[in-house]
Parts: sequence; C-alpha cells; structure tokens
Amino acid sequence: MNILLLGSGGREHALAWKLTQSPHCQQLYIAPGNAGTALCGTNINMSVTDFDTIKQFVLDKAIGMVIVGPEEPLVKGIVDVFRKDASLQHVAIIGPAQYGAQLEGSKAFAKKFMMRHNIPTAQYREFDASNYEEGIPYLQQHALPIVLKADGLAAGKGVLICQSHVEAIAEFELMLQQSKFGDASKKVVVEEFLDGIEMSVFVVTDGKNYVLLPEAKDYKRIGEGDSGLNTGGMGAVSPVPFADDVFMKKVIDRVVEPTVKGLEKENIDYKGFVFVGLIKVGDEPLVIEYNCRMGDPETEVVMPRLKTDLVELMLATANGTLDKITIEQDARVACTVMAVSGGYPGSYEKGFAISGLDSPVDADSLVFHAGTTTKDGEVVTNGGRVLCVTSYDESITGAVYKSKQVLKQIGYDGMYYRKDIGYEFE
Ligand code: AMP
Ligand code: GLY
Repeated sequence: MNILLLGSGGREHALAWKLTQSPHCQQLYIAPGNAGTALCGTNINMSVTDFDTIKQFVLDKAIGMVIVGPEEPLVKGIVDVFRKDASLQHVAIIGPAQYGAQLEGSKAFAKKFMMRHNIPTAQYREFDASNYEEGIPYLQQHALPIVLKADGLAAGKGVLICQSHVEAIAEFELMLQQSKFGDASKKVVVEEFLDGIEMSVFVVTDGKNYVLLPEAKDYKRIGEGDSGLNTGGMGAVSPVPFADDVFMKKVIDRVVEPTVKGLEKENIDYKGFVFVGLIKVGDEPLVIEYNCRMGDPETEVVMPRLKTDLVELMLATANGTLDKITIEQDARVACTVMAVSGGYPGSYEKGFAISGLDSPVDADSLVFHAGTTTKDGEVVTNGGRVLCVTSYDESITGAVYKSKQVLKQIGYDGMYYRKDIGYEFE
C-alpha cells in the first residue's frame, strides 16, 4: 500500500522509519518531511493544511493510508474532508475528526469531557468575555500557584503557572482582553496546580477498542535539572520507571477506559492516537492534557520499542479491528537526546551545515532528524529542534550514554543538548 505521512519533525522521521519496516508499505511519501525522512521515502513539498493539494496528491499517487503527524490539520478538520469526499472513501486516514480533535484543540472541551466521564483531573473553571468580571475575585481567592491555560492551540506556549495573585490577574487580563494568544485565549481555563511527576501514555483507538503503546516521559525544559524555559521536548525515556503495574492499572481503569468509552458513548469519530499527559500526584494519576496525535520526542522512543507492525496497527485502527491486534514491546530501555539550535527556545538561526552524520553509529543507536533540510547537497539545520539520537540499552543511564557518544560525533554551529536526560532515575 502507498502511504502518505504528514509532518516534518523527529516524530515523523521515527514514524517513517517504523513504517518502512512493514512489508505492507510500498511507496512512502512524507509531506513536507525533513532530510531524515528523505532517507525513508519521498519528501513532497506540500503544506499539512493545504487540504485540496493533499486530496489531489492522494488520488494521483493511489495512496491507501494517510497518517497525520501534527495536531494542526486534525484540529482544522482534515479527517472530515476525507470522510465527506466520495472519491476518498477508500483511504484509511489516521486521526480524529474535527469534533474529537477538540480534546487537544480546546482545553475547555477536554475538561468538560473529563468531567462527564469522571476522569481524574485538576479542579478548574472556565472564563471568557461573558464572565470575565467573575474571574477576578475567583483568582484572588485561588490557592497559589495558579495555572492559566489558553483554551485553543497556542504552539505549546498557552499554559502559564503564576506564582502570585497579581501576576495571575495581570495574565488573565492579557489573555482575555488583550488577546495575548490571539483567538486561542478568547477563553481561559483556570486550574488548580498539581504537584507531581509527569509522564505520557499513548492510546491507539478505533473509537471502540484500544491498545496501549509503550509509555514514555519527556523532558520539556531547556536546562539541565529541568531548569529554564519550556521547549517542545529535549529528550525522552521509555519505559518510565515509576509506571509499575499497580500504577498503570490505575491509569487504565480510571483514565484510558473511561476515555475510550466516553468517545464511543458520545459517538465521536476517533480513529487514531490519544496522547494522555498524566501527572502522578502521590500514587494517583491525574490528566493534565489530551493530545490527538503522538508526542515529539516521545515517538522517537516509542516507535523503537514497538515490535508490532505499524501498518497493520494503523489499518486495524481505521477498520475498527484493534481487538485483533496485540502490542509487542522491545524489553529494552530506549532513550532519546535532542540536539537543538543555539538560542532555542528563543530566537535562533537556521542553515548551519551539520557534520558527522556519516560517522558510524553503534547498532544500538538511531539518528532521527527533526529540523533539518538539504541545501546544495548538504544537510543543514532548519528548526529549533534539529535532530535526536535514540539508543537502546538495559538501563536509562546506559542508553543516554550511548546517545551522547553518537552526538559527540555530530556538530553544527550553536549545537546544544541536555546531558542529563533521565537524571532522576539514575
Ligand atoms: P499543557 O500544554 O496542558 O501540556 O501544559 C504544559 C505544561 O504545563 C504541562 O506539561 C505541565 O508541566 C504544566 N501544567 C499544566 N497544567 C498543570 C497543572 N494543573 N498543574 C501543574 N502543572 C501543569
Ligand atoms: N512532547 C510533548 C508533546 O509532543 O506535546
């Protein structure tokens, strides 16, 4: 079958790498892709939100399956376009339709969904222009710190953790009255702060059945010891040492099953990934957020640990036969370390030549490209997160060590990576 994968990050390189291992994968196209995905298939210069062009491409190339990597096309309704078009009925498209994608696209929608299905999450209230006035006294009496969330997609920047009431009220006003995050902050969720350790759980559902992929933990802060600004993710580990059988049973009983049953009960068209961002408070799992796609850089450790054929898994997702699929996992640990551009997550320059990509890599390590492209026959930096190295080992420490050895052979102007991924589990 011919497959089209949408996206251009490390997540997409890891998905492309895994897809090409399937005997069912004939031609693989990645749009727009990066210099790494070009090693797995054919990159197509097409925007992930240009649905007309995507449709024409799918028909021209006899694509049988479309896998949507990032959230934006899902939140904008790419699945609905495929569902409504008579000529695209035979195409398996992976992801929720627009209504279900609100699990990620609207924090208020996700909170209401969790409330309806009794899924544990932080206490909250939502505010918009109509009840703005009530928000001020609500914030004044709220325990500190206070979490403010822009309702809509805000490129990962829409969550603020305010340490004082003055700061919270000022930010609340900026979000609701000065459009701090544009339309995304027309509505704001005010939430109780949860103190605990985070992890990511990946559910694949056909809307009725589900399977769990290996779980992971990512490292969001730019600095070592989890200091400094938030980023898209600086590294990840899988499995997660504290997610033992007892904890995972709670996650399944209280979060995963009510989520999938909730989707089914509400008749929500959802055939794709549900990424559950969890926080462990004491011994209890609470949901911080849902995403309607895989995580990045979590995918770069999840795919290497997934032994099950990804094309078969995706087809079963689209066909509603996930009850026939068994997930097999590599027992080894996988860790990834992300190398970023100097200055990231602030402003940074692109276009620096990347050296060392041809160096021999240990059989236990994989290089996944993120923000890279090819210019005049040379691979150059093209984004904040540039590439990551995933390694297998018996331990987190061993896997991270192997990744860092590979990263020492790779270089570009301003290259930076965290040396301490997995530090709390040593
Ligand atoms: P989100 O965009 O919802 O993933 O939030 C971004 C990050 O903010 C999360 O990964 C958490 O680290 C943090 N966060 C979000 N909500 C809360 C909360 N209620 N309590 C503590 N931290 C939170
Ligand atoms: N690594 C977190 C995310 O993909 O949203």
